[in-house]
Amino acid sequence: MELIFASHNINKASEIQSSMPAGMEIKTLDAISFKDEIPETGNSLEENALIKAREVYSFSGHNCFADDSGLEVVALGGAPGVYSARYAGETGNAAKNMDKLLAAMDGLVNREAQFRTIFALILDGKEYIFEGLVKGEITTERRGQDGFGYDPIFQPKGLLVTFAEMSKSDKNKISHRARALSKMVAFLRETNHI
Ligand code: IMP
Repeated sequence: MELIFASHNINKASEIQSSMPAGMEIKTLDAISFKDEIPETGNSLEENALIKAREVYSFSGHNCFADDSGLEVVALGGAPGVYSARYAGETGNAAKNMDKLLAAMDGLVNREAQFRTIFALILDGKEYIFEGLVKGEITTERRGQDGFGYDPIFQPKGLLVTFAEMSKSDKNKISHRARALSKMVAFLRETNHI
């Protein structure tokens, strides 16, 4: 079976492909000559994932899925959430986003946070949502060199290292993305699609 991943991100696509059983082929937007970047105009991760999946389904008519992820900080009412990538502005980058978040949390005792991923799947015209969560806390300073985004300031619950101090494969065992993906794969198995 073939599934289109509503993204141009080859790294993400190959990470997803490596978690898929034999017989499931993941194709990116480039493979179906979909050139545009789909704007993430929704107000939630669910909306954004659905917007992307619907756009690709109506363009191609193929079974497809899309993802959207964000970091949700309890003491900030769930911010930066759906705006995680552009928390410090459209031209913001990971370093500026982390600076802004550490400043916003300066002196806060409650540092609880979670990463959350939504996968929206459109299969034979029907929509399905899968959620993956990893709970943890925001550190007071950056630690570690690996990973991307907010990894240097996110320490998963029960561990003494940040995501940026973990190997990619260890992070992938517990990450929000991996958890959402494994729910989607389980569903595809249960419904005999793989
Ligand atoms: P995306 O939906 O996967 O593109 O994620 C949106 C934004 O959330 C990214 O640009 C990062 O700022 C943040 N983010 C999502 N997943 C992670 C992660 O695993 N580590 C660190 N930051 C992440």
